[in-house]
Amino acid sequence: MKIVVVYESMYGNTHLIADAIGKGLQEAGDVVVMPVDGADAAVLEGADLVVVGGPTHAHGMTRESTRKSAVEAAEKPDSDLVLDPDAEGEGLRDWFDDLGKLATHAAAFDTRMDGPVSFTGRASKGIAHRLTKHGCTLIDEPQSFLVTKDNHLETDEEQHALTWGSDLAESLQRLVTH
Ligand SMILES: Cc1cc2nc3c(=O)[nH]c(=O)nc-3n(C[C@H](O)[C@H](O)[C@H](O)COP(=O)(O)O)c2cc1C
Repeated sequence: MKIVVVYESMYGNTHLIADAIGKGLQEAGDVVVMPVDGADAAVLEGADLVVVGGPTHAHGMTRESTRKSAVEAAEKPDSDLVLDPDAEGEGLRDWFDDLGKLATHAAAFDTRMDGPVSFTGRASKGIAHRLTKHGCTLIDEPQSFLVTKDNHLETDEEQHALTWGSDLAESLQRLVTH
């Protein structure tokens, strides 16, 4: 089966989570993990599952203004944040705007601060909504992976992502073979 994991990431955390989800998914087929910039129609063509994730900014998916603030924060002299190679490319909102019909299985994830969701918000809600609008069938609930207040992944979140990827692989195999 063909599986594509699409991620947006400013500081690399969502990128690491996307890679770990991709590893977990390998038991179901061939997996491509791509930043939004590279995930064009040719990459998505014929995918049996598309998994899409990004960071939570201002309670939801990133916007141009929040992406700019994120870059500025990383460029401060006392910052230990490193911009992901594709951080200054396009965000998920633009990617969805350019996306045509995508009638396949899908799942949504985000990274966000640790805390009650009513306080932090979660980008995966908007991602899941858009995937459905574009014709996808979600095969699991949107999933969040947590970062510290200093924007570093919490312990065990990569393992959590690997396990979720593996759970998605099982769900997909069940759906496709029944
Ligand atoms: C401008 C900005 C706004 C943010 N707003 C939120 C927020 O509303 N809720 C939250 O949980 N985290 C928020 N965060 C933290 C991000 O979710 C965190 O930086 C992100 O998950 C890290 O993923 P990345 O390394 O892939 O960019 C914000 C971060 C930035 C830079």
